[in-house]
Amino acid sequence: MSKGPPTLRLDRLLANLGYGSRREVQRLAVMGLVTLDGTLLRDSDQRIAVTPDLSSRMTVDGEPLDPPPGLVLMMNKPTGVTCSHKEPPLVYSLLPDRWRDREPAISTIGRLDKETSGLLLLTDDGALLHKIISPRSNVTKRYDVTLDRPLKGTEDKIFASGEMMLESEKTPLLPAKLEVVSPTRAYLTLTEGRYHQVRRMFAAVGNHVTALHRDRVGGLTLPVDLPLGQYRILNEKDISSVLSAP
Ligand code: URA
Repeated sequence: MSKGPPTLRLDRLLANLGYGSRREVQRLAVMGLVTLDGTLLRDSDQRIAVTPDLSSRMTVDGEPLDPPPGLVLMMNKPTGVTCSHKEPPLVYSLLPDRWRDREPAISTIGRLDKETSGLLLLTDDGALLHKIISPRSNVTKRYDVTLDRPLKGTEDKIFASGEMMLESEKTPLLPAKLEVVSPTRAYLTLTEGRYHQVRRMFAAVGNHVTALHRDRVGGLTLPVDLPLGQYRILNEKDISSVLSAP
């Protein structure tokens, strides 16, 4: 027998989406503010099949339900916000307030530095998060790098060697691909994500990164029409493109 979608009690579903405590969301249902397929749901014990299309079928206080669990987002991260849950200003402050109370919580898939902009993925799906960041998945990340000084011309070979060592690290970096755009601009594609890796790689070859922007993760490219600070919900096709080669 095939397994159907997971089900949740109505009050648990709404409380987990941040609509309030179990008691508060029970009150929303009693007040006739929750509908499914156009029918009022007054009974909070009722189990709801949590399907990806729930937001188009369910309303709370006249508004479509927030995206159900299994949410994956891409954000065009601006500089000046952190991927931490503790050091404000947080990237999470760019999401709707209610989403900060969701259970499971939304987390970034990997991190970008405070001063790095560009494609940042976020999800409440822990298994997917681990799959994308696992070294076994080999998900590439491409960075658009602006430099303080002109490239010397030897950086591509050093980065691709698989022998480059960063200070206070015990293992060499995996080969990385450098594509030169101009004397002070290049794309760098990595398959790993060590602390401040791009900035440290250029510092190790005597240069300094003045601007860093990630424009691709796996086969997913940041859309040019997604403004800084904005986000978009990913569909199944986008998610599988993250895990496929660019
Ligand atoms: N490398 C860096 O130095 N910073 C980032 O944010 C990502 C990669």
